[in-house]
Amino acid sequence: MIQVKETASGGFRNVPMNRALAALVILALLRAAPAVQAGGQTVVDLGRELAELNCATCHNIEVTGDSPFAAAPPFRTIPQKYHPSELEEAFVEGIVVGHPAMPEWEMTPEQASALSAYIESLAQ
Ligand code: HEC
Repeated sequence: MIQVKETASGGFRNVPMNRALAALVILALLRAAPAVQAGGQTVVDLGRELAELNCATCHNIEVTGDSPFAAAPPFRTIPQKYHPSELEEAFVEGIVVGHPAMPEWEMTPEQASALSAYIESLAQ
């Protein structure tokens, strides 16, 4: 009985501590390099996730291999043609470079930047 009570009150005392800890973690994340998002996901990771969800049905999004849709260039070849900032701008504006097959998708600036960072990372 007493032990249960102690555990319970210990639990309650821990609540503000956990909040303080959470705040510290958030602060640490905010102060970390902007390339790291909440949960330790990098911008490139996010870009990969977006590419898997929205582009990989047609484009090869790996460092090797062919595109499932032969007419779609593998992502790793795109940096040869476009500068990352150019891509990012095109994505954010929703004009994808003479690309009628691309899904209509209003990207946030963060998504556009992540996607172009991922595409850029394939070229290395
Ligand atoms: C339905 C198939 C399809 C999907 C989905 C798709 N693409 Fe494409 N993409 C193509 C084809 C086909 C081409 C090549 C022909 C063209 O330029 O229209 C292409 C070309 C491109 C090019 C190069 C254009 C150029 O001028 O060389 C970029 C950049 C691109 N896609 C980005 C994307 C991104 C980013 C996504 C995901 C958000 C995506 N695509 C999703 C089919 C697709």
